[in-house]
This record gives sequence, C-alpha cells and structure tokens, in this order.
Amino acid sequence: MTKYNAKFDSFGSYVPKKIVNNFDLEKMVDTSDEWIKTRTGMFERHFADSHEAASDLAFKAAEQAIYSSKTTRLKDIQMIIVGTISGDHPFPATACILQQKLGLKDIPAFDISAGCTGFIYAADIAKQYIESGLYDTILVVGVEILSRLINWSDRGTCVLFGDGAGAAIMKRADKSELSRVISSKITADASEWDLLIQKGGGSRYPASEATVKENAHTVYMEGNKIFKHAVKSMYSISLEALKAADLDLKDIDWVVPHQANLRIIDSLVEKFKLPKSKAIVTIDKYANTSSSSILLAISDAIGSGKIRRGDIVLITAFGAGLTYGTMIFRY
Ligand code: ACO
Repeated sequence: MTKYNAKFDSFGSYVPKKIVNNFDLEKMVDTSDEWIKTRTGMFERHFADSHEAASDLAFKAAEQAIYSSKTTRLKDIQMIIVGTISGDHPFPATACILQQKLGLKDIPAFDISAGCTGFIYAADIAKQYIESGLYDTILVVGVEILSRLINWSDRGTCVLFGDGAGAAIMKRADKSELSRVISSKITADASEWDLLIQKGGGSRYPASEATVKENAHTVYMEGNKIFKHAVKSMYSISLEALKAADLDLKDIDWVVPHQANLRIIDSLVEKFKLPKSKAIVTIDKYANTSSSSILLAISDAIGSGKIRRGDIVLITAFGAGLTYGTMIFRY
C-alpha cells in the first residue's frame, strides 16, 4: 500500500499560432495531401515562431494548468519535470529555464528524455514522489518544437511533426477522493534504439561542419519498423497496467494514445476491442508533437466536454529508445 494517492488536478496546453497544412507541405516537398492523410491521418500542424523556444511554449501551457486548478497557487509547486527531446538547449534542463520564467525558486527541476513517452515517464516519476509523501504538488510538462529538428530532404519524416506544449498539475489526493492515478507502467526495449535518433550534437558525434552537412542534427526514423513496435508495445503494457489496476478494458471511458499515426491508433483500439469513439484523436490538428501529444489531446477533450471528472482514462505512448508506457487514472 502506498502512503498517499496522486491525482491529476488540472491540465493546460498551448500551440503556436502558425498553422502549416498538408497543402503548404505540398509546395515545400515531394508529397501530397492525399498521401499524408491516408498514411497518417494528419492534416495540420502548428510551427513555432523563430523567437519561440520550448520553454516559451511550456510556460504558456503551465500558466494555463495553474489557472485551471481551483486549489493550486504558483507557490505551491514543489517540483518541475519536463518531458522533451527538443528543449531550449542540450543543457541546462528546460525545466530549470521554466522555473525561472514562472518566478519559482529552490525547487528541483529536471528534464526527461523518453521521446514520445516523455510525458508518461515524467508523470510516473511525479506519482512516485507524491505517493511517497515527499511532495504534494508537482508540475509535469510535455513540450516539443520538432519543427527545428526536421530533415526537409526526408519526405518520410518531414511531414509528420508539429510543435506544442501541455502541462498537468499532479497533486496528493485524499484517500477518500475518487480522482487518482490508478496504475502506471513504464519500460524500454533498447534492442533497436537506433531506429529513431537525432544522431549529432552529443558526445558520440559532437557538432561539426560534417554533422551539419549530413543532417545529423535532425530526426532520423525508420518509420515502418517503429510502426510494428508501436501497437504491440502499447497493447502489452496497457494490459499490464490494467492488471495492476484490477480493471478490465470495458472499465475504461477514454483511451488517449500518443498521436503518431491514425492507423496505429485505430489498430490499437481495435486490438482493445473498444469502439473507435472511445479514443481521443487530435492528430489531424496537431500531427505528432511527441511528448506533448497526449497532453494536447487530453486538454482538447476536457475543453470539449468529452473527458469529465470521474472518468477513467488510459493514456499510452511509445517513442525513441524505444520507450513505452501506460498510465490509468480517474480524472
Ligand atoms: N509523401 C509521399 N510519399 C511518401 C512520403 C511522403 N511524405 N513519405 C514516404 N513516401 C513514399 C515512400 O517513398 C514509399 O514509396 P515506395 O513504395 O515507392 O518506396 C511509400 O511512400 C511507402 O513508404 P513507407 O515508409 O513504407 O510508408 P508507411 O506506410 O510505413 O508510412 C510512416 C510511413 C507514416 C512514417 C509510418 O511508418 C509511421 O507512422 N511510423 C511510425 C512513426 C512513429 O510512430 N514514430 C514514433 C514516434 S516519433 C518520436 O518518438 C519522436
């Protein structure tokens, strides 16, 4: 038995103003609206302005999450965890820059690099701190500006990504409260970690004229191999999370999968034997925003009145690493 329960108190999100749709991409690369829509389900994505970095987007999403919470004031936040693979700089952590932007001081702040599973990894860590009783209010953020990491000469990846940020306030819940994280599972299968990689800029391939020339600072992805992992891994870890929660798939009100490809989402929901209407889908509006995609989808679904207090929500993701994870919570 854990000492305390953790819950999601509120959510916030932010997408940059600039919208790039499939027809805009047709003018930039050898692709078509038809191909992108049928292969991925994507139509639009948001791209950050040149003056915006990840912490700017994260700040706006965090402000909204704090504003949306009835019980949290800024000064209550005791820790900041940011899931991102496109932070402001390789270091320091974007979470530290966010701490300064929020005007907070003397609290731990760190980033998690788990690709598209970044938010679930970050939320899982926050859950442990809250359940142990060490902290009671944690700001968890997922933010990406993947438009800065696009290899425009690779049409197989350049059409897939978008920018955005989401934030959640996680809090200690009274044992009597229904709202709580019911179970959470994270893992990684690193046997093929090189299927999805930003190769240059670290200690293996430090930035040089050559790394820039060979596009090593952009996303390299073997999409069809990852596709095969995606459904299998999200399905298996979701079953584990359900088992740990002593729940059945029919108990789930909403499935919010990472938004990487509509065909992946459809296959997963089909494997779950759930109606398509139970899945929250925003891939048409935002494309793949990696660690912010689940947060953007949840914020939209709360805003439109789909996800309501008391609903049981299953979130699941997979990404670079290859990481994957599932969290089940009652909102
Ligand atoms: N426009 C037109 N044609 C294209 C494009 C494009 N943008 N991209 C590829 N094609 C062509 C290819 O050249 C190929 O043509 P060919 O058959 O003549 O050789 C054909 O389309 C099929 O290409 P595939 O790569 O096999 O297409 P696939 O159906 O696998 O779709 C996609 C590609 C969308 C990338 C899919 O594999 C996918 O979604 N994979 C999973 C991606 C993912 O989930 N990544 C993890 C999360 S991301 C993160 O962690 C940052």
